[in-house]
Amino acid sequence: PLITLRQLLDHAADQGYGVPAFNINNMEQGLAILRAAEACRAPVILQASRGARSYAGDVMLRHMVQALAEMFPRIPIVLHQDHGNNDATCLSAIRHGFTSVMMDGSLLEDMKTPASYAYNARITARVTRAAHAVGASVEGELGVLGSLETGEAAAEDGSGAEGRLDHSQLLTDPDQAVEFVQATQCDALAIACGTSHGAYKFTRQPDGEILSMDTIAAIHAKLPDTHLVMHGSSSVPQALQDLINAHGGHMPQTWGVPLAEIERGIRMGVRKVNIDTDCRMAMTAQFRRVAQEQPGEFDPRKFLIPAMAELEALCRDRLDRFGAAGQA
Ligand code: G3H
Ligand code: 13P
Ligand code: NA
Ligand code: ZN
Repeated sequence: PLITLRQLLDHAADQGYGVPAFNINNMEQGLAILRAAEACRAPVILQASRGARSYAGDVMLRHMVQALAEMFPRIPIVLHQDHGNNDATCLSAIRHGFTSVMMDGSLLEDMKTPASYAYNARITARVTRAAHAVGASVEGELGVLGSLETGEAAAEDGSGAEGRLDHSQLLTDPDQAVEFVQATQCDALAIACGTSHGAYKFTRQPDGEILSMDTIAAIHAKLPDTHLVMHGSSSVPQALQDLINAHGGHMPQTWGVPLAEIERGIRMGVRKVNIDTDCRMAMTAQFRRVAQEQPGEFDPRKFLIPAMAELEALCRDRLDRFGAAGQA
């Protein structure tokens, strides 16, 4: 069944686990994610970006997720708007069956320019009032996601925001987080701790200098009842980088968020863990392998079946490690 983010994360907090939120754009991703959830009896969050909504269409997404709910009746599913940029995006998502929305007011509507605290608090409070009135949940974001190595903020599409940011903008301030949650009444709060979107997060294995998990502990200590969200949480597995590069890809060496750090984050209060890049890499690695190993192949299913299997294995691993397995 479809449930709200609030319902799912309350349960996760109660039982002490984290839930991966996988981005979805098409049927194959939906099937792979739900097969993984079914195999390990886990609840799951499917999230669609604005890009996903225009790629598949709102009507297609709504019916697709309803079909998945019908095919996998035992699995609690949240359908969540990823990085909503204004009221219109969030409210139209709810109208199309989303049970939860992210109002990302940390960036202005163009999703590149860092926004003021006042703007963020105002727009998030407004969207939360409207969403709660119809029973949907809201995730807010405080702090701008970006690299502590370069000072560059990452926009929704992974491109850099304008201008360099200092550490105070790139790490969420715990006291401001308390004020923000009180002012907005959001159900979940995305925080900045040094992760960024996309494959190129870190130029080396991250340590406490460039990935500040302590920030999470500090926020959780002051906001024990708010569900914390980590964006940019792909681990960018070496095995997938290698598989892509072994079959004609050219991905420069890069480091993501180590799974052990995410597991530590979950112990410190993280409940929703956003993963898109890893899912993209899993499918693409198999597309490349099949294309190279079977150059005569032209049936898309011969590409999509191994791609779905690779994605399913990845999702299964994350559901297991984050403790969501066995919770459905
Ligand atoms: O944070 C952004 C997600 O990875 C979605 O990316 O906007 O290209 O669909 P997208
Ligand atoms: P990744 O690019 O690390 O997968 O992050 C995805 C994300 O935060 C979606 O909101
Ligand atoms: Na942001
Ligand atoms: Zn994100």
